[in-house]
Amino acid sequence: LHVVVLMGGWANEREVSLMSGNGVANALEGLGHRVTRIDLDRDIAARLREAAPDVVFNALHGVPGEDGTVQGMMDLMGIPYTHSGLATSVVAIDKELTKQALVPHGIPMPGGRIVHSEDLYAGDPIARPYVLKPLNEGSSVGVAIITDESNCGNPIRRDAEGPWQKFETLLAEPYIRGRELTTAVLGDRALMVTELVPKSGFYDFTAKYTDGMTEHVCPAHIPPEIEKLCLEYALQAHRRLGCRGVSRSDFRWDDERGEDGLFLLETNTQPGMTPLSLVPEQALHCGIAYPELVEIIIKDALD
Ligand code: DAL
Ligand code: MG
Repeated sequence: LHVVVLMGGWANEREVSLMSGNGVANALEGLGHRVTRIDLDRDIAARLREAAPDVVFNALHGVPGEDGTVQGMMDLMGIPYTHSGLATSVVAIDKELTKQALVPHGIPMPGGRIVHSEDLYAGDPIARPYVLKPLNEGSSVGVAIITDESNCGNPIRRDAEGPWQKFETLLAEPYIRGRELTTAVLGDRALMVTELVPKSGFYDFTAKYTDGMTEHVCPAHIPPEIEKLCLEYALQAHRRLGCRGVSRSDFRWDDERGEDGLFLLETNTQPGMTPLSLVPEQALHCGIAYPELVEIIIKDALD
C-alpha cells in the first residue's frame, strides 16, 4: 500500500504528533509499505492530491487534525483515512460536547461549567479544589489545578501564570482526588486498564512525555468491579461517539468512594502512538506488537 502518514501541524501537540507519526511511519516501512510523511500545512489538499495515497494514517493530535477539519477535507477528496470521522471528531475534541453526548447514557463524568477567563479574577466559578482546562486541547496542555491554597485562597490573579492567559474559554471541573486510569478500545474490544502514577505532581505534559517520570501500572491493580466499569464505560463511549479504529478513554477514580467515585474525563479519538504512549503499551500486553497495531488501524480504515 501507499500510505501517507499525516503528522505535525501547528497544534500545541505538534511535537507529540511528530513522535507518533514517525513511529507509525517506521513501522509501516518495516512492514514493506510505501510511506510518504507529510507535515500538515495550509497546502495540505494539494499535497495529498499529488501523493494520491491508498490511505492516510492520521497521526495528528489536537486542532485541526483531531477536531474534524482534516477529516472533512479528506471526506471531500474521497481519501480513506484512519481513526474517527468528521462528526465524531467534532464532538470528542470538545470536552463539554462529549459530556452532553455521554452523560445521558449513564456514563459518569465530572460536573462543572464553562467559564470566561475574565470571570475568574472576580472569584471561583465552583468550589475548590477544581481543575481548569481548555475545551479542546490534549496532553494536559493548559491544565491547572486550583487548590484551597492557590493564591492563599484569594481569586486567581490576572498576572499569575496559567491557562487563563492563553485561553478565553475554560472548563472548570471539580478536582477528583485519587487515581488516574485509562482504557484503550481497539475495534470492538476494550483492551485493559492502566494506572498512571506520576513520580511527582499530576500527570501533566512533562509527566506524559518524559521517560521515567510516570509509572505505568499495566494492568492496573484495582478491584475487579472498577476494572469492569472502566472497560464498559470506555467501550460504551467509543460506540456512542461513533469512534472508528482506536480510541482511549481517560478516567479519575476516587478510591475512597468505590464505584461511585469513577468518572470518565474524556475520550481521545487520536490517542498518542509515541514510544511512551498508552495504546501501544496496552496492545502489547494483549499480544499485539506495535507494527501489528498499525496494520490493524490501517485495515480498519480500508474496510
Ligand atoms: N492527546 C494525546 C496525544 C493522547 O491522547 O494520547
Ligand atoms: Mg486528551
